[in-house]
Amino acid sequence: MSRHSTRKRQVHLAAHFPGVNNTTVWSDPASGSHIDPDSFVHFAQTAERGKFDFLFLAEGLRLREHAGRIYDLDVVGRPDTFTILAALAGVTTHLGLTGTINSTFNEPYEVARQFATLDHLSEGRAAWNVVTSWDAFTGENFRRGGFLAAEQRYERARSFLDTAFELFDSWRGDEVLADQATGQFLRAPGPGAFEHHDAHFDIAGHTTVPRSPQGRPVIFQAGDSEEGREFAAQHADAIFSRHGTLEEGRPFYADVKARLAKYGRERDELLVLPAATFVLGDTDAEAEELAREVRRAQVSGATAIVFLEQVWNRDLSAYDPDGPLPDVDPVVGEELISKGRASVRMYRDPLATAKAWRERAQAEGLSIRELMIEQTARQTFVGSPTTVADQIEHLVEAEAADGFILVPHITPAGLDPFVDRVVPILQERGVHRTDYEGTTLREHLGLRPLPVPSLLTTTVGAAGVSA
Ligand SMILES: Cc1cc2nc3c(=O)[nH]c(=O)nc-3n(C[C@H](O)[C@H](O)[C@H](O)COP(=O)(O)O)c2cc1C
Repeated sequence: MSRHSTRKRQVHLAAHFPGVNNTTVWSDPASGSHIDPDSFVHFAQTAERGKFDFLFLAEGLRLREHAGRIYDLDVVGRPDTFTILAALAGVTTHLGLTGTINSTFNEPYEVARQFATLDHLSEGRAAWNVVTSWDAFTGENFRRGGFLAAEQRYERARSFLDTAFELFDSWRGDEVLADQATGQFLRAPGPGAFEHHDAHFDIAGHTTVPRSPQGRPVIFQAGDSEEGREFAAQHADAIFSRHGTLEEGRPFYADVKARLAKYGRERDELLVLPAATFVLGDTDAEAEELAREVRRAQVSGATAIVFLEQVWNRDLSAYDPDGPLPDVDPVVGEELISKGRASVRMYRDPLATAKAWRERAQAEGLSIRELMIEQTARQTFVGSPTTVADQIEHLVEAEAADGFILVPHITPAGLDPFVDRVVPILQERGVHRTDYEGTTLREHLGLRPLPVPSLLTTTVGAAGVSA
């Protein structure tokens, strides 16, 4: 039974700070800085004004390259997650703060301390999107230049998360007595003791941060593979997905929810929150027209060639973006042109992709740019505020999603029209809160509080906690 059985199915809304991808139309006169603190503050406070569940930050650990050049938007779009979220904790009161943090290149001890600290600073609003990316190119930035083969990434992620949970649970929450009369600070010696030994981590000690308001951050997952979905079903509280349409969303939603029972979990313990874009107009026709303009701004002629080169894996700069697709086939094998891009890996069979794209371009009479607009510039919600509210409500009703993580194409003010014009309609319909009912992100998401680890289970070796 749904946790909202007495009222209409609630729509969860969140906001993704944009920047690094060509969804962002930085050339628009309304666009502002992607690094200025005021941009983050404006965006976060707008999301909070709309009573959103949380703000979301993606992460990239190496500036991507294309044909030997740094990809421009990365330069301003990848500041440090924890620093930004900590600053935003100070200028918001209820908004959840979700950071994407990698389990391949980090260490659980550091990450657990950082999230526990953020959860304290924000009084229970922290969330961690556990990502498993990526490759040797990114690994060059890190200690020992390390990276993991694809098949080992989720193995390490599982171990990473298990270890982090042990660290979070190494404090029960009542260890600090601070009795000024007797001078006794700790109730018992040795709080926060942990010990973890496996193929990936061989660590022991005491966690430095006492138990945080939520016990641990809310856990997100954003991988799409079989392993990624299984990882989410076992461990995550929410999934950030790519499947924001009715056709793609419903099977994905059914698939991941069906995996939960195996882990003794209920359907409402894992929320499915696809990324979504939106274009609003006074009328549907006006929005459609604006959406066409936005798509063309997102995929300029030069951007279209870059997209094509990601699949073709060869220099196509001599091709006219307003002309037909190349006759030559993609180069299969090592990535020669694009480095560090997730989208390159999405096209696992470049020859088949090239064939399908040529066929489509020929059948529909599309130029390179027109085809790339069709293939890449996906717009989830387009219409008047009422139409967009209808679309959102319908997708949630139809179990294609539990809500959406909105990515505006203008930074930082692109979220304002949604909050000003769509949110009131959803509120009026009783599917989105008019005010926060709780204070923690778990509460906003409708997740049950975590059990506090019992005395017995936190006892570790001689340093274990005792009453
Ligand atoms: C919607 C979505 C957003 C993602 N965002 C990020 C990101 O910001 N940073 C990152 O390093 N990886 C990101 N990823 C990558 C995944 O977390 C994961 O590491 C990668 O997709 C490989 O896992 P898979 O094989 O299960 O898909 C994202 C994936 C998806 C589906």
